[in-house]
Amino acid sequence: MDFLQLAKRRYACRKYTDRKVEREQLMQILEAGRVAPTGANRQPQRIVVVESKEGMERLARCTRDFGAPLAFIICADTTEVWRRKYDGKEISDIDASIVTDHMMLEAASLGLDSLWICMFKPEAVREEFGLPEHIVPVNILLVGYGDGAPASPDRHDEMRKPLEETIFWEQF
Ligand SMILES: Cc1cc2nc3c(=O)[nH]c(=O)nc-3n(C[C@H](O)[C@H](O)[C@H](O)COP(=O)(O)O)c2cc1C
Repeated sequence: MDFLQLAKRRYACRKYTDRKVEREQLMQILEAGRVAPTGANRQPQRIVVVESKEGMERLARCTRDFGAPLAFIICADTTEVWRRKYDGKEISDIDASIVTDHMMLEAASLGLDSLWICMFKPEAVREEFGLPEHIVPVNILLVGYGDGAPASPDRHDEMRKPLEETIFWEQF
């Protein structure tokens, strides 16, 4: 399957079976995140893996878990992140999100389903998973086997804006 086919097949899965994700697949997902590019190669990502029943119960106190058997909390170490000298912009969210995207698409390539979550309580995540002050939770990625029919790869025809609305050639 080529990349575009894979990207179109992936969808936001909001219902999972209780089938566990194999350790080998989990490690492959982590490896995809490891090789992701980050600004100045600083690699500020810090990832908490949650796969135990007890851990998922703690996660459920921070966000909806949709019954997933596995979650990654992708954080950024603010002491390691690259800053743009012109305006001081920190790129931790960008770095953590590229890592998350690599992991999400690797999961899809392994036949797994996933959900990217930003709607979580940051302070609850900090408390439940023992994050120190300089570690900021950016994304949560749920992974597992979807329960029910997957979304159609053709849905983008209607669910995504046409290129004419978002692309500007040469000038905005
Ligand atoms: C940065 C980001 C944050 C998201 N946060 C949430 C979230 O908190 N809760 C949720 O149910 N879905 C969340 N989603 C999933 C999107 O709603 C979903 O990807 C989008 O509606 C497109 O649907 P599709 O992925 O099935 O094509 C998020 C996706 C992205 C990329």
